[in-house]
Amino acid sequence: MKHIDIKNIISDHNYHGKEVTVCGWVRTARDSKNMAFIELNDGTTLKHLQIVINKSDFSGIDPETMKLGCSIKVRGTAVESRQGGTEIEAAEITLLGKCPADYPLQKKRHTLEYLRTMPHIRTRTNTFNAVFRVRSVMADAIHRYFQERDYVYIHTPLITGSDCEGAGEMFKVTTIGYSDKYKNADEYYADDFFEKKAGLSVSGQLEGEVAATAFGKIYTFGPSFRAEKSNTPRHVAEFWHVEPEVAFAELEDIIEIAEEMIKYIVAEVIRKCPDEIAFFNQHFEKGLSEKLEKLTKQDFAVLEYTKAIEILKESGKDFQYPVEWGCDLQTEHERYITEEVYNKPVFITNYPKDIKSFYMKQNPDGKTVAATDLLVPGVGEIIGCSEREADYDKLVDAMKQRNMNLEDYSDYLDLRKYGSVPHSGFGLGFERILMYVTGIQNIRDVILYPRTVGSIR
Ligand code: 4AD
Repeated sequence: MKHIDIKNIISDHNYHGKEVTVCGWVRTARDSKNMAFIELNDGTTLKHLQIVINKSDFSGIDPETMKLGCSIKVRGTAVESRQGGTEIEAAEITLLGKCPADYPLQKKRHTLEYLRTMPHIRTRTNTFNAVFRVRSVMADAIHRYFQERDYVYIHTPLITGSDCEGAGEMFKVTTIGYSDKYKNADEYYADDFFEKKAGLSVSGQLEGEVAATAFGKIYTFGPSFRAEKSNTPRHVAEFWHVEPEVAFAELEDIIEIAEEMIKYIVAEVIRKCPDEIAFFNQHFEKGLSEKLEKLTKQDFAVLEYTKAIEILKESGKDFQYPVEWGCDLQTEHERYITEEVYNKPVFITNYPKDIKSFYMKQNPDGKTVAATDLLVPGVGEIIGCSEREADYDKLVDAMKQRNMNLEDYSDYLDLRKYGSVPHSGFGLGFERILMYVTGIQNIRDVILYPRTVGSIR
């Protein structure tokens, strides 16, 4: 159907005086004695296009074309509106799809919780229009950041045979259900599709390391799956994961890369989505525009875990979870540090080895690993990052301490056997950074179909 995007019509005054055809969904309609007005939106912009209907030019208006939510095609002339923008003087209106009165998006503003009950309809709201445009622009920016710097884009497998990648609980992949015909788990798995236990990958890192130790700099950008029953505003069972892996990079190098990448993608969103950011600033987080502008210009803080514990202990705050060296930082601790102490993104570095994964480089102190999490105000952790242990013997020791089956990781260990190099990487939760950039507080509202504990649609 030949038509022009409303975004183009609105932004280009050269259309004035010309005949155009536009399509879209009716957002509001007003009828008066001689005139009628429709606000039309086609999803290409947050702005609506006003359709002006001079009733004397029409033998009669089909009332179905004036119903909220219906879809129409309009042929008419683009003219300058009284406010200096653009509107269409309609010559012909065609009904494409009727919309009965039980359309759930009536004029009043609905809560995000209510909209979650209709994921297929909530996309028609301004909020979701803005979220998914920012999401698209940011995904493109991520690819461009890495492509402009000659990273190789890798597709790591989503089905994995390694029992534990150290990052989280796995969903099982199986073609047979439970049956008491098997004497034990081994027999059951032997009969299954892969003839061994398989699951959905929690991270592409281990395969990313295989690629990085051949191609130098790589990144992955795809879904990861976590089966933890974490029913929080920051966890989904299926999320999009950006994972660069860089050979010859130590912890401080990868921290620099992570900071530069975040600044690059935020700057791209500011540049390409000014209307969307203004919208979020108005409706979701006052001061968002300023926060994002500031982020692109200021240095992120870097804070040793040990120092963070000292700060928390001296804070005088009555935390629900007690703070001791060796503890995992809880959301309340992360929020205190990023929001109250620094009020900007903070890399916490050199965590105790016992609370981190087996593959992280062991520091000379014997107690900590060269790992960092990037915490941001309002959201908490958005990046998990580390230099990888490149020493064969130390890696084997760390795996043995965790009772891991070395045979399952023989390929991974080979990387340390044949020309091992220092290398580092990180995982950025795509939905988490989207929450930060939009000010939306629940991860369920930045992904089309959220998968969470007890909920799939
Ligand atoms: O810190 P994580 O578990 O790190 C890894 O998976 C490493 N293998 C990454 C790497 O070094 N290549 O996860 C990385 C990020 C987290 O910081 C968070 O932003 C996001 O992934 N994430 C989730 N996002 C939404 N829902 C969940 N359930 C998430 N789990 C992790």
